[in-house]
Amino acid sequence: MSQSLSLQQLKEAAEQFGTPLYVYHAEKITEQYQKLQTAFSKSDVQIFYACKALTNINILQHVRSLGSNIDCSSINEVKLSLHAGFTPERILYTSNGIAFEEIEEAKDLGVHINIDSLSNLEKFGKKFGHSYPVGIRLRPNILAGGNLKISTGHDKSKFGIPVDQIEKIIALVTKYNLFIKDLHIHTGSEIKDVEVFVKGIEVLFDIIPRFQELEFIDLGGGFKVPYKDGDAETDIELLAAKVKEAFDKRPNPNGKSLQVWFEPGKFLVSECGYLITQVNVLKESTATVFAGVNSGFNHLIRPMFYDSYHRIKNISNPDGEEKKYSVVGNICETDTFAWDRKLNEVREGDYLVFYNAGAYGFEMSSNFNSRFKPAEILFKNGKMHLIRRRDTFDDLLKNQIEVL
Ligand code: LLP
Repeated sequence: MSQSLSLQQLKEAAEQFGTPLYVYHAEKITEQYQKLQTAFSKSDVQIFYACKALTNINILQHVRSLGSNIDCSSINEVKLSLHAGFTPERILYTSNGIAFEEIEEAKDLGVHINIDSLSNLEKFGKKFGHSYPVGIRLRPNILAGGNLKISTGHDKSKFGIPVDQIEKIIALVTKYNLFIKDLHIHTGSEIKDVEVFVKGIEVLFDIIPRFQELEFIDLGGGFKVPYKDGDAETDIELLAAKVKEAFDKRPNPNGKSLQVWFEPGKFLVSECGYLITQVNVLKESTATVFAGVNSGFNHLIRPMFYDSYHRIKNISNPDGEEKKYSVVGNICETDTFAWDRKLNEVREGDYLVFYNAGAYGFEMSSNFNSRFKPAEILFKNGKMHLIRRRDTFDDLLKNQIEVL
């Protein structure tokens, strides 16, 4: 049985902690992690949670307790992971366009590092030579992912060193005797078709023989989760079978068998999260009926930024007659969560919940319009825990320096 929170539990959370409110369900994260464990049990695979999706420290601790490793996209995520109790060998820093000083800092912290530019690779070689093993993020020139904004592996993407520059990479590796322990690709987010991963592996197979000291191949994240009713998710069992088949077919010519790493973000935390809002105003117009909630793209930017779809339910009137509403926020800018969506009759004061709000929800929130960021709640073992208090007015002034 798939884990989810009931409308009643969500309503109780809203009543107890107020809205807007992010609610996360620990057991759903566990369920998703176990799906990966089961699917990959026959292969030498390691999971690194891409924590950019949701970094609340309690979520990191929960993920750690499951046995997962962690993938970071900034030095601060690395520090949060250490704070959450991950040991350095369980932390991966997949960098992108960062100053070399940050790579040095990551090295001092003893974590795994993927370097994504020739210039940083050269600086790394000059300074550390063979003494610290490092990975290379490659751009495989594969177009994949739910939409262009979240596609990262194509031939116009800023991410990784283009695979066609392999000779330049090899020249640096040779010149500085670099210890290259992994090759990394991440082609995008919301990849439903497992063949995309196989294509990526094929690209890597051509160059694997050129790196004598490889220990693992990192295939990134990007597994798709369902957003709409009836939506498909990446078939993880099929992916596991295909990956195993591909590696069995092409054993590493250097003799060492290669471990495979994945970095899922959404797959682990998208469905565990809910954003509960409250309807401030109903506004009838010739075009539509607006349900204006006490939130906006300052709290959940995905619909406006990626045209993404989030299921919405009226948890205050679940048996009400279905009507169409356009759900909008209260930001002083067009701020549409959903247009002409069927919902059970909405009244002012009703709670509307947005699903799939765990990944890149709170994490991409802001204080635009000087609104407070929502509080966060964790449901674990049937208990509700406040894991981040709502902003207060002091938070808005916290780092400002009044000079006039
Ligand atoms: N690894 C790397 C190197 C990444 O850049 C990402 C995501 C992941 C792993 C995890 O991808 P996931 O499994 O979560 O799809 N904010 C966008 C998604 C951007 C993803 C950026 N990189 C959204 O809300 O759709």
